[in-house]
Amino acid sequence: MNAKQLKAFWSIWKQNGDGDGEPRLPRHVAIIMDGNGRWAKKHKLNVSRGHRQGTETLREIIRHTDDLGIEALSLYAFSTENWSRPAEEVAALMQLILDFFASEIDELCEKNVRILILGDKSALPAKQRETLIEAEQRTAGNTGLHLNIGVNYGSRAELVRATAEIARMVRDGEMQPEEITEQTISDHLYTRGQPDVDLLIRTSGEMRLSNFLLYQNAYAEFIFPEVLWPDFTVAEYDRCLAAFGRRDRRYGGRDSTAENGADQGGEGT
Ligand code: FPP
Repeated sequence: MNAKQLKAFWSIWKQNGDGDGEPRLPRHVAIIMDGNGRWAKKHKLNVSRGHRQGTETLREIIRHTDDLGIEALSLYAFSTENWSRPAEEVAALMQLILDFFASEIDELCEKNVRILILGDKSALPAKQRETLIEAEQRTAGNTGLHLNIGVNYGSRAELVRATAEIARMVRDGEMQPEEITEQTISDHLYTRGQPDVDLLIRTSGEMRLSNFLLYQNAYAEFIFPEVLWPDFTVAEYDRCLAAFGRRDRRYGGRDSTAENGADQGGEGT
């Protein structure tokens, strides 16, 4: 464990307060980075400045996730619905994607990070499409953090795509309908081979999934900090991770500490 990891672990462990060993960290964190527009308004700035400031937060959160040794981080950068925003805002977000990869790709490569774009790249402008494909290709052989970035992503579209792939396999005789399992679906999502989401964070106090990783979030713990994304700090992130460590995850079963589940009242969900 390196010094940075140790410091972060210590901060999370202190907040957990139970003192028994290392904190339980999520394997996969998903973040809906909400509140850039409200942050810009609050500071009497153009919405694009809010997104730019949000990108600064993003850099810090990626670094910290990597330092902690978390396996996967999924970020919702641009949804299939975001095309309906004013053209100027869409253009600013597209430019930020280019700027982000231009400034970060070398460090991400060096850190052994694997970049995966969730979403349909074919509908993106050529420059963005090429940049994203290049980032994926450059990092494809890496073995560290899975950094998933949703760009032109929608979970329903992802499920339609997976269903069509499976249907083609059945049609071509590669699989029988009875052989389709939950794992088959997982294996046809963008995130194939990665653990399901353990912790979903959405900033700005909004409490919606907004079509983000619906299948992968089936048993995720949700945390909704009030803070706007550009103001979300590493300390706030650690608080979310600590809160996750205190949650009792039962996956529909009983509390593991309960002597007689039936007497404890309520089935875990
Ligand atoms: C939601 O805030 C945020 C977005 C739609 C975009 C998030 C994108 C970034 C943080 C940067 C771009 C990403 C990369 C990978 C460079 P909102 O505008 O909906 O906020 P509001 O609800 O306050 O208006």
